[in-house]
Amino acid sequence: MSSSQPVEDPASTASPDHRYLLDNARVEAGERFTWLAELFDGVTRGHLDRLGLTEGWRCWEVGAGGPGIPETLATAVGPTGHVLATDIDPAWLDPHAGYEVRRHDVVADPPPQPGTFDLVHARLVLVHLPDRARALATMVAALRPGGWLVIEDADTELQPLACLDEVGPAQRRANRLRGATRELMTRRGANLRFGRTLPRVLRAAGLADVAAVGSFPVGGLACARLEAATVRMLRADLLAAGLADDAEIDAHLAAVDAGELDLTLAPLISAWGRRPG
Ligand SMILES: C[S@@+](CC[C@H](N)C(=O)[O-])C[C@H]1O[C@@H](n2cnc3c(N)ncnc32)[C@H](O)[C@@H]1O
Repeated sequence: MSSSQPVEDPASTASPDHRYLLDNARVEAGERFTWLAELFDGVTRGHLDRLGLTEGWRCWEVGAGGPGIPETLATAVGPTGHVLATDIDPAWLDPHAGYEVRRHDVVADPPPQPGTFDLVHARLVLVHLPDRARALATMVAALRPGGWLVIEDADTELQPLACLDEVGPAQRRANRLRGATRELMTRRGANLRFGRTLPRVLRAAGLADVAAVGSFPVGGLACARLEAATVRMLRADLLAAGLADDAEIDAHLAAVDAGELDLTLAPLISAWGRRPG
């Protein structure tokens, strides 16, 4: 090899690590689902009710995570409806709670019952998936003509702070660690600007009557508990990536537990559109 030839960097040729970062196999995943439900199930339910969710509907909850939304849907559609809740790891779902549970990879697997669902919903799923276009096509293919697709995803770059009110070192540390978490997610293939693209993406998928709303909580117990569970879950990944050290993480978790921080989240962009028909 001549000295002018580029030397291959093994890191640049290795395939990127796009495994889902917030693995459901971790015990903190269950805590995260509890607090996500507390923060966002009411928001989601409001949108679904306005779109007409009612008895007899057939619903597919994609990347369900915890039982909150599948249970809500099962209650709303009643015995004449049907709710399918899927996830690549459905361990936190209850197969005896009035909804069907299946392991399903929305990127790799075909739609469960093409052309049949009145509602397909996914919250905080597509943002994490590098092949989100394929996942979206699978969800659209599952809709009956006239059926609604509802996608909710965070736009973390729109509001990147953990503490809006950066009054002292604890808030600055919280914001720095939130930045480190964003960096980890980006390295795993997440698109942290995905939320803002949703109306355009749904129109491009051929859906009609597309609209969207953004919302985010500021402060409160649920935000603090979600933050603590997420940081504990990601500690090893943050350390391995050199994005934080133990002392910084311990100090942050102590401040969160002490209730010193008014923690917030990225806006959740909720977007919907209907399959023409
Ligand atoms: C951040 S959690 C959100 C859970 C729930 N939708 C919520 O809003 O509380 C993302 C969920 O998507 C699931 N997931 C990740 N990749 C997936 C895939 N390729 N197919 C289906 N589910 C997936 C994860 O296992 C996890 O349960």
